[in-house]
Amino acid sequence: MMGMVVTIDGPAASGKSSVSRELARRLGWKWVSTGAFYRGLAYAALQLDVDLDDVKTLAELTHNPVWNVSLESERTKVFFKDQDVTDQIAHEDVGNFASRISHYPEVRKALLDAQRNCSSGPDGLVAEGRDCGTVVFPTAEAKVYLTASSEHRAARRATELGLDQGEMVKAQKQRDLQDSTRKVAPMAIPDNAFVIDSTELNLSEVVDKIEAYVHSKIDN
Ligand code: DC
Repeated sequence: MMGMVVTIDGPAASGKSSVSRELARRLGWKWVSTGAFYRGLAYAALQLDVDLDDVKTLAELTHNPVWNVSLESERTKVFFKDQDVTDQIAHEDVGNFASRISHYPEVRKALLDAQRNCSSGPDGLVAEGRDCGTVVFPTAEAKVYLTASSEHRAARRATELGLDQGEMVKAQKQRDLQDSTRKVAPMAIPDNAFVIDSTELNLSEVVDKIEAYVHSKIDN
């Protein structure tokens, strides 16, 4: 039995995590940040000195119980050797390593089942990432693509992490380029997605719009 799935895709720091967490809270559904799978794997590889271009070992590491992802209502947590490393994986350099390894089809394929399993059970799921509406949950009932200007996104993430905004613009541009130009499952707007530019909107305005859209799908 599978509950309803809403996907929220979009570029780095477009507000996907805050928006999907709040949406899931309002709907009483589960939520998952699928980036945590890529970040967790990159983090585990770095800790274990696995070469980030050694695709075979990376694919094997996806199933190694030394790390795991746990869905919690406030955050998608990552554990490494039973330690909560959710704060560590939030760093932009881990995001960049995650983006690098996400280019490998073998890695993407190996992580797919674990991401799809998040929708098992009768509860609804809000899933956010880059390819949730296109590849992970192509039959999702509601699909959203969330974006915002690159300056706005960089300012948001720089404030969150206490970093320089100019450096953040550069780092995010590089990551967005990597994510949207990769050969396999590039970041893309899913067909029939509800597209929202959040540059001029606050969090609750964005969530209001998505919630109304999801209700229109539930009522259909
Ligand atoms: O959403 P995030 O910043 O936590 O994602 C980190 C990286 O993981 C992102 O730059 C690319 C990769 N990723 C992906 O390829 N597909 C997803 N569904 C989610 C993340």
